[in-house]
Amino acid sequence: MTTQTIPGSVLDPMVFRDVVGHFASGVTVITTNVDGELFGTTASAVSSLSMEPPMMLACLNRSSSTHDAVVRSGYFGINILAEDQGDLAMKFGRKGADKFDSVAVSLSEHGNVPLLDGALAHVVCRVDETPAGGTHTVFFGLVQEASAREGAEPLAYYRGTFGRLERVKELAAYDAVRDWVLHRRTPVNEALVPEEIAAEIRSDANNVHNALVKLSAEALVTRDGSGQFTPTPMTEDLINSAYEGRATIELGVLASHFEKITDADVVELCAMTEKLGELRERGVDSLDEFLKLNAKFHNRLVSIAGSVQLTDAFRRLGIGTVWRQALTDADWARQMDHSHVVALTDALRSRDAAKASRAVREHTDFAKKLASEVIAGNGGAV
Ligand SMILES: Cc1cc2nc3c(=O)[nH]c(=O)nc-3n(C[C@H](O)[C@H](O)[C@H](O)COP(=O)(O)O)c2cc1C
Repeated sequence: MTTQTIPGSVLDPMVFRDVVGHFASGVTVITTNVDGELFGTTASAVSSLSMEPPMMLACLNRSSSTHDAVVRSGYFGINILAEDQGDLAMKFGRKGADKFDSVAVSLSEHGNVPLLDGALAHVVCRVDETPAGGTHTVFFGLVQEASAREGAEPLAYYRGTFGRLERVKELAAYDAVRDWVLHRRTPVNEALVPEEIAAEIRSDANNVHNALVKLSAEALVTRDGSGQFTPTPMTEDLINSAYEGRATIELGVLASHFEKITDADVVELCAMTEKLGELRERGVDSLDEFLKLNAKFHNRLVSIAGSVQLTDAFRRLGIGTVWRQALTDADWARQMDHSHVVALTDALRSRDAAKASRAVREHTDFAKKLASEVIAGNGGAV
């Protein structure tokens, strides 16, 4: 569990983001129309507010172009997404002029706001009050129109993952079990007991069992003849194949989506890179946070492709936390060079695709070399 506070200062934004990510929510796209120009942004900070009169609220960052458009038009639509609309959530969660390309919409009666086809529900609001909160404006909206369709399930959002509610729960269990295995909370060659793990990670034994089956397909755990699972020792071959798989995905994303990387993406990746540097400087006790943030950086880069499935596959190839076992608190900052991440971020900032690909290659080679040294130092397996 993350329980970090910084005395005398506000909470670290990265820690705050991680902690509030534990609040499961639905996903909406807030839309509006200014003189025929359509705007939309993915938003989860949305809530019903009052019954009499019917009111909703939506919190939008002042840096969002949809924010300014809602101010101008005086109306906004809340499109509550259905479980099969994860790609729309990603598309509208990024900046870009082409958001409505090949997206079917109809216009509302009040305010002409675009209503996305296939959404689970639509609510059209007229802007009432607009108090500010930090970087955001809270739009209080008086509901003008509302409709919902039956027979569909909502898209859920939990800890950075979209999906069906059940699937999000399964995924959360999978992530926690994977973390458990890679942190070697059950030592290599000892039995993984689903009921015990479930009690610790607050999931149910069924989800833990399913996660272990998945992890056995990924060669991270081994299932013996009696159906018992044990953590598989990490060998050099296993690690090399995981790193090569991740490099192939990252290089593919850079090759086919480089032009789509927005300034906002770069700003976010730069902030993470800076934080990685700070964590390395802090050294002792920061390895867990460093590994988590490093994984987040790479997941964020791959998410630029806008495919939930690709980002999922990439995450499943992540084995970084196994280093937790092999590196010492005192020494990790020296061994865990992140200069390639810095070079990659620089290349994204200067829009140099060739340099970015080189940095990914160098990063992969470095990780494989470190893996080989650590494994040799641990008698051939970790
Ligand atoms: C799941 C998810 C939830 C989000 N929730 C919000 C939100 O509640 N408010 C907000 O201002 N931005 C939110 N964002 C970020 C915006 O969608 C993002 O900054 C977008 O690029 C803004 O686009 P625009 O400038 O074209 O309006 C969310 C993004 C995602 C992926």
